[in-house]
Amino acid sequence: MSSALRSVVQQSRRSAFVRSARFASTSTKQATLKERLAELIPAEIQNVKETRAEHGKKSFGPVLVDQLYGGMRGLPALIWDGSVLDPEEGIRFRGKTIPECQQLLPKAPEQVTSLSKDWAARAAIPDFVEDILDRCPPTLHPMSQFSLAVTALNHDSAFAKAYQQGVSKKEYWQPTFEDCMDLIAKLPNIAGRIYRNVYGRGKLPAIDANKDYAYNLATLLGFGEKSEFVELMRLYLTIHSDHEGGNVSAHAGKLVGSALSDPFLAFGASLNGLAGPLHGLANQEVLIWLRKMQSKIGQNASDEAVKEYVWATLKGGQVVPGYGHAVLRKTDPRYSAQREFALKHLPEDPLFKLVGQIYKIVPGVLLEAGKAKNPWPNVDAHSGVLLTHYGLEEMQFYTVLFGVSRAFGVAAQLIWDRALGAPLERPKSYSTAAIQKIFKDKQ
Ligand SMILES: CC(C)(COP(=O)(O)OP(=O)(O)OC[C@H]1O[C@@H](n2cnc3c(N)ncnc32)[C@H](O)[C@@H]1OP(=O)(O)O)[C@@H](O)C(=O)NCCC(=O)NCCS
Repeated sequence: MSSALRSVVQQSRRSAFVRSARFASTSTKQATLKERLAELIPAEIQNVKETRAEHGKKSFGPVLVDQLYGGMRGLPALIWDGSVLDPEEGIRFRGKTIPECQQLLPKAPEQVTSLSKDWAARAAIPDFVEDILDRCPPTLHPMSQFSLAVTALNHDSAFAKAYQQGVSKKEYWQPTFEDCMDLIAKLPNIAGRIYRNVYGRGKLPAIDANKDYAYNLATLLGFGEKSEFVELMRLYLTIHSDHEGGNVSAHAGKLVGSALSDPFLAFGASLNGLAGPLHGLANQEVLIWLRKMQSKIGQNASDEAVKEYVWATLKGGQVVPGYGHAVLRKTDPRYSAQREFALKHLPEDPLFKLVGQIYKIVPGVLLEAGKAKNPWPNVDAHSGVLLTHYGLEEMQFYTVLFGVSRAFGVAAQLIWDRALGAPLERPKSYSTAAIQKIFKDKQ
């Protein structure tokens, strides 16, 4: 057998081994999430070890000087198996597209029930964190409040405590898992409290341990009675959860976590990145932009008037929010999933119609302008319209919901990084003088 063929066979055996470990539980009793992880970790550690032994010294594409100056765009630099983003096809979660996940996800009621109960039991936030939120001025952006509260949860971090007590590296993932479960469980209470404080929506109801996460989140915000909104939250939480490892929020969490900062500190960093207008804040920006457009050119404006408004945005030196992407080169499947939801539940909504009208106009304008590499809509072009339809009209709050969802991806990554012993991240930087010197003699 040639060495190349042997390598392919070894690789496919290894993948089959990891896949079978991933999908087959050995126990007859329904395993908890933590028990399943404990079952999976040895095979994944072995997989990484063998992959590094076989390919570790191979070159993985050239690095261009432009990539050093250009925000490391496209530089192969990270490992994250939870989700992979294809420029043409969009996101896959553990190898599954969004429609495939939609088919598969609701079919594990037993697991969902026990997980929901576990999260409900962990959902309360400490009094001092409630106090921090209650003392925030309503003028402080909800994302800043969110980040403050999440960072403060580090007060009770199981990982920080275990580290102080000298926990072995091999056990890091266990207290990290506990912190991540606490983090996810507490987010509805934090988000609900911020929403009600800032917008004067009364007291928070209690979490219902017999209902799922999306229902509880919707209820804490005050929308639990609207079953379509709860359904929307199930879709929203899933499609915003993860988008590969290199986007700002996922990468910020991974980077900070690599210093062994606990999951609350690491996710606080993710939230601060998500709060930027080129990232998660774009879903707030889209709605603000649409409203401004409506007040300038009126409702039911002609295609010509919309086109003119888009050009005016570009000529004013601003970006068209909700369009473009650092990796994607086609319409974002997360946009399409939301469009499908809207076609089913709110086809006549005027703002949804405007979003559809813009979809027909913006890509052409961006192509004609000639700068954006991707003229197509991303996830943020649609989400705000759906939330507005059900009465959640406070745009400044939208990114908080994105943050609640993104916690699932960042938490999974933090757990796996600790389980697989991911090292401290420390890329090398170069000065412009060094670049000039390196290439001086090579011309
Ligand atoms: C997402 C985004 C930040 C990606 O940035 P990027 O990887 O640098 O994108 P590109 O390589 O295509 O950018 C090339 C140029 O096109 C511009 N461009 C990209 N998307 C644009 C948009 N939607 N509107 C106007 N200009 C855009 C960039 O600002 C850049 O201009 P510059 O050369 O003057 O700096 C960018 O598309 C953007 O700002 N979109 C709007 C904000 C948004 O929706 N963010 C959410 C992303 S999920």
